[in-house]
Amino acid sequence: MKPQHASPLDTIFHGDTLEFLSGLADESVQLVVSSPPYNIGKEYETRQALDAYLVNQSVILRECVRVLRQTGSIFWQLGSYSADGSLIPLDVRVFPILEGLGLIPRNRVIWVRQHGVHARKKFSCRHESILWFTKSDSYSFNLDAIRVPQKYQNKTEWEGPNYGKLTCNPLGKNPADIWVFRNVKHNHEEQTIHPCQFPEDLITRIVLAVTDSGDTILDPYMGSGTVAVVARDTGRHFLGAELDAKYHSVAMRRLSGEPDEDNRFANLKSLRQYVRRTGKPVENYRFDMQVGNVATTADKAKIFPESHHLTQLEDRLSFEEDCFAADLRGETRPVDPLGHNDPNKLKKKKRVGAEDQLTLFDKVDT
Ligand SMILES: C[S@@+](CC[C@H](N)C(=O)[O-])C[C@H]1O[C@@H](n2cnc3c(N)ncnc32)[C@H](O)[C@@H]1O
Repeated sequence: MKPQHASPLDTIFHGDTLEFLSGLADESVQLVVSSPPYNIGKEYETRQALDAYLVNQSVILRECVRVLRQTGSIFWQLGSYSADGSLIPLDVRVFPILEGLGLIPRNRVIWVRQHGVHARKKFSCRHESILWFTKSDSYSFNLDAIRVPQKYQNKTEWEGPNYGKLTCNPLGKNPADIWVFRNVKHNHEEQTIHPCQFPEDLITRIVLAVTDSGDTILDPYMGSGTVAVVARDTGRHFLGAELDAKYHSVAMRRLSGEPDEDNRFANLKSLRQYVRRTGKPVENYRFDMQVGNVATTADKAKIFPESHHLTQLEDRLSFEEDCFAADLRGETRPVDPLGHNDPNKLKKKKRVGAEDQLTLFDKVDT
């Protein structure tokens, strides 16, 4: 049994994750949460590449299970592997690996995306998944910490001994297993140069659900350091590794909260927090993904909660299916409840082939 971590708590190891994991003490972390790389390699035979990837994942996951406490959880976020037109959801292949390591499955969370690449020869992919497994049956789950508003919060019993009492928990409801946290793209204030960041709110939901203050959280593939930032901001400890020097540096800059020698920040959120904390002029600073001349401050940002995106998604999907049904029956299509077809809300963005592609103003963040 390894008694002590080789890496100190609240640092991100710069290097290979297996080397890092081998230095961690047994049963020392409460939560492992990560999105592993899916870049399965360029070996000639696709099948071999995927198999080799899964073997590598088994080795990493075995180490994650070793360092997990008995009450602990693993949340493993996965997309799909596609080659030559075929598409393999990676969670389908990773699920048996986790079960084979003696873990107990609890949920398969579907993380829905409102936007993405449009497929031509299959349905466009609009979700990824997050597998949740625990090490034992005595696992932590703090539901009250992550409740969301009830749909009918004030509904009361209309008869019987509970007449007049609320029918649902006034603290809110279980957020369920379909999540719509906005992808960290475009003008999301957390966006760094990393191409596939977790949204901080998504990680916060997981952290609050299965850890307590002071617990240790491990991300074996830290990327831009989202898990470390959330752990710090929620009073937990973190451990993790990142192989790529530029992403490791981004993560360290996010954690420091200070501008670098060129007065730059890793993302807009760090810049806004610094300007608010110090009162210094926003014009003095830039962030890596900045396009405009001056960054906008937090008071100008419109950041909507996950429930807003979920409602929008539900409305949109119902509308699309109603249109499909109307088309089938030769009826008039319904009016888009979100007004997306209103010409006043559309702008010309760029030319795609011979046609102008019309896109919505992104009114989410400024
Ligand atoms: C999907 S990204 C993780 C992004 C992260 N969740 C975030 O919010 O920024 C996977 C990361 O794993 C890193 N990586 C790949 N192989 C690695 C290895 N063997 N050891 C450590 N990190 C590795 C990649 O450089 C990449 O940044």
